[in-house]
Amino acid sequence: MSGSINLNGRPHDVDVAPRVLLVEWIRQQGMTGTHVGCDTSACGACTVLLDGQPVKSCTMLAVQASGATVTTIEGLTPPDDLSILQKAFIAEHGLQCGFCTPGFIVAATPLLDRTNSPTDDEIRRELEGNLCRCTGYTSIIRAVRHAAALMRGESPQPLAGLAHEQPLSVTSVHSGPVHEDLSATEVV
Ligand code: FES
Ligand code: FES
Repeated sequence: MSGSINLNGRPHDVDVAPRVLLVEWIRQQGMTGTHVGCDTSACGACTVLLDGQPVKSCTMLAVQASGATVTTIEGLTPPDDLSILQKAFIAEHGLQCGFCTPGFIVAATPLLDRTNSPTDDEIRRELEGNLCRCTGYTSIIRAVRHAAALMRGESPQPLAGLAHEQPLSVTSVHSGPVHEDLSATEVV
């Protein structure tokens, strides 16, 4: 089947078998920052924006996105720079392995587009479809809060307020190296 998808601002032909998932097609276009972390539609690592709304791109077919605008983590990353939200993830240690990070950043983007003063409950609700298996959620929520403060023109203090945080939800935790860069867009 054929059609066209506007992927990160550029039209791309979609000429694939009907069974090809949107996440497969995206990765075939070289946008490998969109990850596949599960086969149960549970992890959110594959989150992209479809006409501005977060969707799990493993839950729909590429042909279903024909005619739509799809934005991936690459499309949210300024050339030769990082976005405010990406920098906030670094500042607040919101990632370790980085595998889940593109999904979290994509999922949080519409919230920050709507408001630069989200409550912690709003952040948790927005990110409840995304799982992180190694960082834990406290620093991820703090990163979104940090980005919102930067958007308000404030200078947040990284790692402030740790003692009173509640995790987003229970997750299995294992230790791992702390990555200081956001090379998640390059992880395949
Ligand atoms: S790969 Fe899509 S939800 Fe896990
Ligand atoms: S940083 Fe979330 S899974 Fe590793």
